[in-house]
Amino acid sequence: MPAPGRSAFAAAIDKTGGQIPLPHGHGVVLIATTVGAAGAGPDPCQVAGMLYKCPPIRFIDECADEGDTVQRGLTRLLAEIELLAVAPHARMQGIGGALLSEAEQMARTRGGRLLYAKVRDADRPVVRWYRRRGYRPLAWGETVDVVVARRRVGFAAGADGFRVMIKAL
Ligand SMILES: CC(C)(COP(=O)(O)OP(=O)(O)OC[C@H]1O[C@@H](n2cnc3c(N)ncnc32)[C@H](O)[C@@H]1OP(=O)(O)O)[C@@H](O)C(=O)NCCC(=O)NCCS
Repeated sequence: MPAPGRSAFAAAIDKTGGQIPLPHGHGVVLIATTVGAAGAGPDPCQVAGMLYKCPPIRFIDECADEGDTVQRGLTRLLAEIELLAVAPHARMQGIGGALLSEAEQMARTRGGRLLYAKVRDADRPVVRWYRRRGYRPLAWGETVDVVVARRRVGFAAGADGFRVMIKAL
């Protein structure tokens, strides 16, 4: 049962502390809720935005030959924002920015160094939105050197039609 005053969705995420175990590390879910007007019914808190971040599992898997220490290091250093969405009615109020700042702060305090998101290349407003928050677009085929356990690993996260927006924390 959801806790009183919380949406069922947000309450289900709360149950796990917002953390989802993965083959490398865990994913983290952040939920932003808005509180409705007094007398708005039994569930006045509504989900207004959501962010999900996790280590880049496929890339870390591809680094298996580098050994466990390197894979653990990459799990700590790198994170992808896989999902960031604010409900249309709740946009332009700072919710997306607040979710992103919180994700950055969480990553930083856990030793994270690079945070990135894949944005549809055609979605120029979202590319600009990330730019204004300190993310830069990776050029096609560009790799970022990550030093982990005294090894230099070339991180690449490109995907057709998507632009990787990346920030050093
Ligand atoms: C991209 C997205 C997450 C932005 O969310 P948002 O909550 O509207 O973002 P913010 O409110 O933080 O920022 C939007 C603008 O509102 C402005 N703003 C912030 N607080 C404000 C406030 N209290 N009042 C008015 N405007 C405000 C900001 O200045 C910002 O403009 P800027 O980029 O020029 O600085 C949202 O548009 C969305 O969900 N898009 C669809 C999904 C998507 O594309 N996700 C990203 C793919 S990874």
